Amino acid sequence: MKPLAKVTIQTLRKMKSEGRKVAMVTAYDASFARLVDQAGVDVILVGDSLGMVIQGGGNTLPVTMEEMIYHCKSVVRGAEHAQVVGDMPFMSYQASVEDGIRNAGRLVKEGGAEAVKLEGGADYAELASRLVRIGIPVMGHIGLTPQSLHQMGGFKIQGRGEAAAKKILDDAVALDQAGCYSIVLEGIPRELAGEITQKVGCPTIGIGAGADCDGQVLVVYDLLGMNEEFRPKFVKRYDNLAVRIRTAVEEYVTEVRAGIFPDEDHSFSKEAPPPASATPYGSARAASGGGNNDRGGIDPDAAGAACIPLPIRPREK
Ligand code: KIV
Repeated sequence: MKPLAKVTIQTLRKMKSEGRKVAMVTAYDASFARLVDQAGVDVILVGDSLGMVIQGGGNTLPVTMEEMIYHCKSVVRGAEHAQVVGDMPFMSYQASVEDGIRNAGRLVKEGGAEAVKLEGGADYAELASRLVRIGIPVMGHIGLTPQSLHQMGGFKIQGRGEAAAKKILDDAVALDQAGCYSIVLEGIPRELAGEITQKVGCPTIGIGAGADCDGQVLVVYDLLGMNEEFRPKFVKRYDNLAVRIRTAVEEYVTEVRAGIFPDEDHSFSKEAPPPASATPYGSARAASGGGNNDRGGIDPDAAGAACIPLPIRPREK
């Protein structure tokens, strides 16, 4: 199968002009990045939502630049086709344009991100335009901006009144004019999202903003149903991994306790050659030498080869 071409800011603009929808999801590590990339998403966001879904916090405010860089690096290793966007964490750009430039530069230079996302409207248009001139693509994020949680009085839908809607529309126009290559519209009425989408040249990516945006984004753990307690209206669950993961691990626990696992098929002996399917991490694709995280092929006839854990080699960029 022909590999998909790398998604760039130009691809996304073209998609808008041709009326093709953009599919974006979050990812925070190489394994998930590889899977969502193989599934054909256009954009992978290394969101500061990691403060909640990875770190277990109640909001995104404590997330640091070091953490964002760490997760960006991991995601970049897993992504081949999708564009990788790094989220600017709280207080990495709010104090000054200089802070914003330095930290956006770090996400690109150290984290390997191909673009950065920042929350806020017209107030951040100057930063966005400086970054674009430097050569760093910027994705805006307006409406319900989780880093302003305390100012908003909670995670609440924004832009319902006329004045509030106009402010969000003006913010979108300011970011578009500043050169943002796309804008996330979060938690706003779908009519407003539709109006913004008509008005701006760059693609809009909605989350809780209805169907009239140019694309959609969801937190990958939400769409997979990993958190049973979290059931907001805007999330559609495409699986119930919480149940499936628990069931699989329960089965493993039962088998370990009963001495059923490991059986002969999953053990090595001095005499028998290792089975062809045995790889250090169980992936046939990795064993055949495919994929970004090529862990190297394993010769099934080489005695003991399959019990040597091979390191994950970083992808040449
Ligand atoms: O941090 C994040 O994951 C986000 C998306 C939900 C848009 O900002």
